[in-house]
Order: sequence, then structure tokens, then C-alpha cells
Amino acid sequence: DWVMRDHIAEAVEAIRKQVGDEEVILGLSGGVDSSVAAALIHRAIGDQLTCVFVDHGLLRLNEGDMVMDMFAGKLHAKVVRVDASERFLGQLAGVSDPEAKRKIIGREFVEVFKAEAAKIKETHSRHVAWLAQGTIYPDVIESGGAKSKKAVTIKSHHNVGGLPEQLGLKLLEPLRDLFKDEVRELGVALGLPHEMVYRHPFPGPGLGVRILGEVKKEYADLLRAADHIFIEELRATVDPASGKTWYELTSQAFTVFLPVRSVGVMGDGRTYDYVVALRAVQTSDFMTADWAELPYALLKKVSSRIINEVRGINRVTYDVSSKPPATIEWE
Ligand code: XMP
Repeated sequence: DWVMRDHIAEAVEAIRKQVGDEEVILGLSGGVDSSVAAALIHRAIGDQLTCVFVDHGLLRLNEGDMVMDMFAGKLHAKVVRVDASERFLGQLAGVSDPEAKRKIIGREFVEVFKAEAAKIKETHSRHVAWLAQGTIYPDVIESGGAKSKKAVTIKSHHNVGGLPEQLGLKLLEPLRDLFKDEVRELGVALGLPHEMVYRHPFPGPGLGVRILGEVKKEYADLLRAADHIFIEELRATVDPASGKTWYELTSQAFTVFLPVRSVGVMGDGRTYDYVVALRAVQTSDFMTADWAELPYALLKKVSSRIINEVRGINRVTYDVSSKPPATIEWE
């Protein structure tokens, strides 16, 4: 619509004016905000933007390829893909405390990104002067007020504050005045696929906090396969009453890997394999949440597909805990 087209034209003009002929780098995570920021900035300044996509090895199935296909393939943006999975898994070996895992992932992320940014700065002929971030209005509010007043930190979210100063870069935040809904509309108007723009949120530490306790590559691979099946079935199952898919009817849905083994039977044999928990919640603000009353037929299909298709998992459970007192993630 024309309102959105006007808004894009204005934003593009503002970015061009702000940046001039300098270079911009942006950390692409695959999430909605950084994706929309990248698409908008790319629309404004094309090849003056370089995106850095750090794969920490804790992403969902095919996520890295999807991001590359979208930004490098379709939008023709400059994207550097950094496969840092070995480094992250190495640092996480032997660590099982959730907060310690978050700190390591956050710290390594900053290190890898800084190293990559320094390389880009060195090799560019033009001056790299800007770090772009997909900060949106609620983030601005959160970091200024409400959050810091909280008496206890329940979970420390990955904080990239301070990064621009450390890199000697100016901050470019073209989504700063927008609410989530507006960011999504903008993304669609910029040509990003509906499926990408309306994705459930995914935490920065990724599967690192969905594998309980110590993170291992073997566990991450099993979890990726199981979670992919769950999400696929949620997207494929329509609720007749509303005409919406169960993916759309839930605010966040994912699979959690439990590093315990239980006994099962397959064919003539006994199995002794891992357990996963399915988690699906409905919420408007993620501060409180209800577990979703998914149809039994859907749960049944997901469970039988996971157990039959993912060798190494022989039991699927459904999490029926609301927040509070449980949290949405298990760590
Ligand atoms: P909880 O588990 O606290 O989650 O009920 C509330 C929302 O926050 C997300 N979450 C995170 N996001 N880094 C993030 O970027 C984190 O460390 C983190 N921990 C939780 C969670 O996915 C949910 O949407």
C-alpha cells in the first residue's frame, strides 16, 4: 500500500543521507529484526552494506542455507557466512549451567563478529564507519527502563551493547521507531517471504538453551531433526474453526532435548534412547504464557514421525506447564 511505500522511500532517503558513501556492516541472525534491517539498508545503499552471518552450530535445520539463499541468492546482498560451530561447541564442552552457557555463547559471538568486522574493515577500499542493528522500539524501551529495574535477572539475554564502541563504528538503527507489527509489514513490503517475516522468535543462544545441560554435536543433530518435524507439522495442520495453521495459532513452539535415556521397543529389539519434549505456548507478551491445547491428532503424528524418523530418540513428551511458574524455554 502507498503508506508503506512512502515509509520505505523516506527510510531509504534517511539512510542514504546518514551513511553517505561510507560502508556499513550488519550482523545477520536469521531473525525477523536483523533480516528486515538488512533488506531495508540493502534497498538504500546496495553493496555499501556487508552482512555477517555467524553460524554458531546451534541453529535450526537448514537455517544457514536459508539465510544465505535469501540474502545472497535472492536479494543479491553481500553476505559473509562464518562457520564457527567448532569454536562454539569447543568452548561449550563440559559446561552445563544455563547461565554459563549463555555467557559463553554471547562472548564468543562478540569475538567472532569483531574478528570478522576487523577483516572487512581492512579489506575494504572505502571507509567502514557503521554498524547496523535491527533494534526495534520495544528494545529501546526495555534497555532504558523496565528491564533494568527488575530485582533479579531470571535469564541474561545476549547483549551486544558496547559493540559499536569496541569496533570504533557508528550505530545505524533504522527500525528504532517501529513496533514488531510494523517491522513485519515493512519486511513483506521489501519482498521478504511471509514465512520468514512471521516466524516465531528464536533465542540468541539458539539450541544451546534447548539442549539441557552439556551441549554436544550429537544432541544438536538429534534435536534439529526432531524440531524440524514438529514445526513442519504445525505449519501443515489447519484448525478448521479459525482457518489458521497451528503454527500461526501458537506464539512460540519448539522441541527440547533431554539428555536422559529411556527404554523402548522397536521391531524385535529393545532400544535405550533419548527423550524430547515438545513445547508450544500462546502469549501476547512472553511475560506470561499458556501451554497450547494442540489437537491430539497433531501430537500423535508428530510423536510417531519423530520416533520413526529420528534414530536415537524413542520417546516424545508434551510440556503442559504454563508461565509462570515455568518459563517458556527450559533453560
Ligand atoms: P522465558 O524462557 O524466559 O522466555 O520464558 C521468554 C522469551 O525470551 C526468549 N529467550 C531468549 N531470547 N536470548 C534471547 O535472545 C536468551 O538468552 C533467551 N532466553 C529466553 C524465549 O525464547 C521467549 O521468547
